[in-house]
Amino acid sequence: MSGNRTFTMIKPDAVKAGHIGAILSKINEAGFRIVAMKYYKLSREMAQKFYEIHKERPFYGELCDFMSSGPIVAAILEKENAVAEFRKLIGSTNPAEAAPGTIRALYATSLGENAIHGADSDENALIEGSFHFAGTEMY
Ligand code: RTP
Ligand code: MG
Repeated sequence: MSGNRTFTMIKPDAVKAGHIGAILSKINEAGFRIVAMKYYKLSREMAQKFYEIHKERPFYGELCDFMSSGPIVAAILEKENAVAEFRKLIGSTNPAEAAPGTIRALYATSLGENAIHGADSDENALIEGSFHFAGTEMY
């Protein structure tokens, strides 16, 4: 059975471009409830740890530089079938392939700087949420 929570980050490119409000509106309109939310900058070490799964990939260094280049908005979101529903809302990794109306189609500028992250499984949603919100009381 699929879970009802996912984890997201509005990435530094979208924060810098002033899209936090618009993206949160899309998330609300799509029926997600915000369970926890945090605005802060990741250190490079935290970005490395968060994206450890990609450490052998050629874009890993660039990805860690980018993700620690400015503040992000991290959040845990709730909706039925949250992980899949949220991946649908954000669209394909490459904005050129993202369906019209999706968050990446609207706000991402490139494959590397693609505005938003969405967990890819219930298991990773839990791990990623704990990474940013360990010790936080949630409602
Ligand atoms: P995310 O984890 O950020 O939600 O993105 P995703 O699942 O759609 O894509 P994933 O394969 O997990 O890649 C993580 C992030 O790495 C950057 N990337 N750059 N230059 C490249 O070839 C490349 N490929 C991926 C993107 O920022 C992607 O979101
Ligand atoms: Mg991913």
